[in-house]
Amino acid sequence: MDLGPMIRKRFADGELYVQIQESIRGCDVYLIQPSCQPVNDHLMELLIMIDACRRASARQVTAVIPYYGYARADRKTAGRESITAKLVANLITESGAARVVAMDLHAAQIQGYFDIPFDHVYGSPVILDYLASKQLPDLVVVSPDVGGVARARAFAKKLNDAPLAIIDKRRQAHNVAEVLNVIGDVKGKTAVLVDDMIDTGGTIAEGARLLREEGARQVYACATHAVFSPPAIERLSSGLFEEVIVTNTIPLPEDKRFPQLVVLSVA
Ligand code: R5P
Repeated sequence: MDLGPMIRKRFADGELYVQIQESIRGCDVYLIQPSCQPVNDHLMELLIMIDACRRASARQVTAVIPYYGYARADRKTAGRESITAKLVANLITESGAARVVAMDLHAAQIQGYFDIPFDHVYGSPVILDYLASKQLPDLVVVSPDVGGVARARAFAKKLNDAPLAIIDKRRQAHNVAEVLNVIGDVKGKTAVLVDDMIDTGGTIAEGARLLREEGARQVYACATHAVFSPPAIERLSSGLFEEVIVTNTIPLPEDKRFPQLVVLSVA
């Protein structure tokens, strides 16, 4: 079906305005809005849309959030911090959404931050189909950090039980990745790095550099969410990767595309 018409404007002071342009009285409304950049504007716009739908007597509003922003702030790691992923859940619920659909949450437990039905869906079937179609030889699936081992193991299992390797990463500051060493054998192999998101590209590029140093013959990167904050494009297009495989949970403008990029549809 076609997208419903909607007016979206910004006032001189930066405030957002939204008006749904058709009657939605008694309808099941699906609002599709990733928390892409600028993340706060997209989030606020989603809340305003939900509120507008509720006040227009929609029967039920489902927030379809292909990329759930602030998901990395899912717990306190130091004193006097916010758990922003929970705050976002509260805002979405309070604004009137009856149900949420989101894809590849950074932490699956975020589902539990909501007291309304939550459908957590995955980009992996689409990415795995693509990888399988390439029939890559001597595959090893690599998790770029210890936190991603379960995800990488699930990928390896689906790729004919390919072996697994893990990169031991220590992060010293926000958005700065430091890679220490590889656990597992990657020499002469086709390494497939698997992550939920690529933000600045630091994690995946440092991982690829290390895999090359350890003798990997080819390196592929896969991630559901192409956040691509600077300097991701420079890092990802610097010749470290045969391909960088992502999905379209976040719309990618032309200036964020490069020759090694493959964008798969999860529609
Ligand atoms: C970390 O736990 C995440 O799964 C990603 O590895 C990380 O957020 C990617 O960020 P960046 O691309 O900036 O290194």
